[in-house]
Amino acid sequence: MPATVIVGLQWGDEGKGKTTDFLAEQVAMVVRYQGGDNAGHTVVTGDEVFKLHLVPSGVLYPHITSVIGNGVVVNPATLIAELDMLTARGIDVSKVKVSRSAHVIMPYHVALDRGNEARLGEARVGTTGRGIGPAYGDRAWRIGLRMEDLLDRAVLTDRISRVLPDKNLLLGAMGLAAMTVDALVDQCLAWGRRLEGYLDDSTWLVQAALARGEHVLLEGAQGTLLDLDHGSYPFVTSSNPVAGGACTGGGIGPLQVDEVMGVMKAYATRVGSGPFPTELRDEIGAGIAARGHEVGTTTGRPRRVGWFDAMPLRYAVAVNSISSIMLNKLDILSGIPTIRLGVAYDVGGRRVEHWPSSASAIADATPVYEDFPGWDAPIHDVRSLADLPENARRYVTALEELAGVPIVLVSVGPERTQTIERAWRPMRHRGGMARS
Ligand code: GDP
Ligand code: IMO
Ligand code: MG
Repeated sequence: MPATVIVGLQWGDEGKGKTTDFLAEQVAMVVRYQGGDNAGHTVVTGDEVFKLHLVPSGVLYPHITSVIGNGVVVNPATLIAELDMLTARGIDVSKVKVSRSAHVIMPYHVALDRGNEARLGEARVGTTGRGIGPAYGDRAWRIGLRMEDLLDRAVLTDRISRVLPDKNLLLGAMGLAAMTVDALVDQCLAWGRRLEGYLDDSTWLVQAALARGEHVLLEGAQGTLLDLDHGSYPFVTSSNPVAGGACTGGGIGPLQVDEVMGVMKAYATRVGSGPFPTELRDEIGAGIAARGHEVGTTTGRPRRVGWFDAMPLRYAVAVNSISSIMLNKLDILSGIPTIRLGVAYDVGGRRVEHWPSSASAIADATPVYEDFPGWDAPIHDVRSLADLPENARRYVTALEELAGVPIVLVSVGPERTQTIERAWRPMRHRGGMARS
């Protein structure tokens, strides 16, 4: 029963969309297990660029069943727009399935997320403003709406009537307009009518695929360092991007996972607030940001850029039980004379080699770097490890040694085929059927 989890090892935007699309060719099903439309996953095939927020990144292949699992929070308006965009571009969305029990991001969640951020001022998290925190908050408080509720006027009226007075109080306190039960119920029913044909029991869909011996990919959103439990709280998202989240949010058990592939890029980025010890505020950082097009897929905000930091990498490898790694965006480092790699921290004069659990220790950490000579030649067209410049190979080997896990795929450009397969046992040669 082979299931592979794809998980971000950094602060998101590691190239999970590219990785998922690259691996999806060989599998039957791709499942998103957490997050919502805060995610922005880019897939590039030939001249075509697709930016996906909710639909799993396997959707470009006609044979794939694309599942939005129970752990995702769904803004129905975003989902409908994405399905329409894909259809208009000739992509078949008839195999997209949405869990009936996925929670709904309501208009008041979006308004409260933005209102709260405005109220926090300088202390803001820098959320994507998509209502993620308030929607997961209501889910935990057991006052959320689920996708199946969108089909039932009586349930909608009852639930919304109960929660809306509190929401309107908060909206009022933030200087925002109140909402009405009738308008929300009508909006929800319209969403329900449009999405009814996509709703399904996602857990049994995934379990049935695994029981047939089909290969299932579980596509994480965000990254380990934005995890609600493992990230730098409160500068985190409100779900569990780590591999464990694939079980709760994708409808599988831990023993059904036979590979956890971590995705990381050759440097680091972060969108929004929060500690980032290896952040670069100089011309080198600006150059990486420009060459790497480091602008948020969802919000258009510039991403903060820094050197690769092996401290959180070791932590991420441990908490996800990473078994292999895909290294993306190695091409962006071409032309930098000296590449720095964070290998430890200096915290108050003490060398620390473990990612600290204390937020203040991370905030006070000064990175200890190892320097690597760079390489000049562009590497976009390289397709084998042997053809990479020697200094690039040395850098990859150093990352691999620090991770303690094989780097099996190296990406040298955004396009599907700009990928080096290294020490890689393709899924089709492993147990289980590649496709239905
Ligand atoms: P995700 O959220 O993890 O899926 O990542 P994003 O799609 O938000 O950001 C990654 C960006 O880098 C996208 O624009 C990708 O097309 C691009 N990308 C992915 N891999 C590579 C690579 O190896 N080289 C270059 N130059 N771009 C890449
Ligand atoms: P993908 O899947 C990068 C960040 C936000 C903010 C914090 C909380 O494309 O990698 P939220 O809206 O989730 O409440 O914001 O998390 N964030 C991301 N950063 N990539 C993402 O997704 C992100 N999704 C949320 O910038 O710092
Ligand atoms: Mg992204």
